[in-house]
Amino acid sequence: MDKGQIRHVVAIGSGKGGVGKSSATALLAAELRRRELRVGILDADVTGPSMPKLLGLTGPLVDRGEGIEPSTSPSGVVVISSQFLVEDEQTPVIWRGPLVTRLITQFFGGVNWGALDYLLIDMPPGTSDVPLTVFQTIPIDGMIFVFTPQDLAALIVKKAMNMARDLHVPLIGVVENMAELTCPQCGHHIAPFGPSHVDAVAREYGVPVIAHLPLDPRLSELCDAGRIEQYAVPSVAAYADTFLAAIDRTEKAKLTTL
Ligand SMILES: Nc1ncnc2c1ncn2[C@@H]1O[C@H](COP(=O)(O)OP(=O)(O)O)[C@@H](O)[C@H]1O
Ligand SMILES: [Mg+2]
Repeated sequence: MDKGQIRHVVAIGSGKGGVGKSSATALLAAELRRRELRVGILDADVTGPSMPKLLGLTGPLVDRGEGIEPSTSPSGVVVISSQFLVEDEQTPVIWRGPLVTRLITQFFGGVNWGALDYLLIDMPPGTSDVPLTVFQTIPIDGMIFVFTPQDLAALIVKKAMNMARDLHVPLIGVVENMAELTCPQCGHHIAPFGPSHVDAVAREYGVPVIAHLPLDPRLSELCDAGRIEQYAVPSVAAYADTFLAAIDRTEKAKLTTL
């Protein structure tokens, strides 16, 4: 049975957790939906899934013998996550590496994705088993890296970027998150985590800066409420514009038929 056709598969990663990788994935998905593109998210952070929380989704997954049915967000993003396999948000997924990597393969090939323009893969942080499995088993167009100024200062993200480069995964671009905060009282711009290094890194790797996402308390409120899709601001629109332009420049992968 034909489970779907996917035009572009893009992985979104980082050097460490908490830098806004899942938020950057969900924001891009929501903006692409506003442009009426067909979008899916594969939550590959098996032990720390956060996509269902951001999008306000719950499980369980249904498999009627013809593949797993993904969940659908209010804006129409189809989503698969290990969170849907456990009873509630507090139940951990305690699996050894081989099982985790098998799940990732299943989440790609065993899901009824339907026809998608973009499948975004929300990666776990770092350079563990899962990125390796994704690179070796899923035909990705390329990868986007998300970081904060602090993360860059500590050079953490470069390890993950070098891993992708060493495995010949095209780098589509970089997203800088939380570099700037605008004071709600006086409108003054603050750099809470120190100066930005994003331009230097983009130059070093020869990739575009795809987005600057400011630190915004309204975004974290929407994340906590499971309504991240409602965060439609100019920086997110610019993010999608630059992303779509960068994808056009990336060597096109073949249409993937599952
Ligand atoms: N630009 C931002 N402004 C405000 N809060 C943010 C921003 N980016 C991320 N956050 C907050 O940080 C939390 C962690 O981000 P998340 O995307 O889950 O990180 P990661 O996937 O890298 O671990 C989010 O739930 C959200 O509340
Ligand atoms: Mg995450």
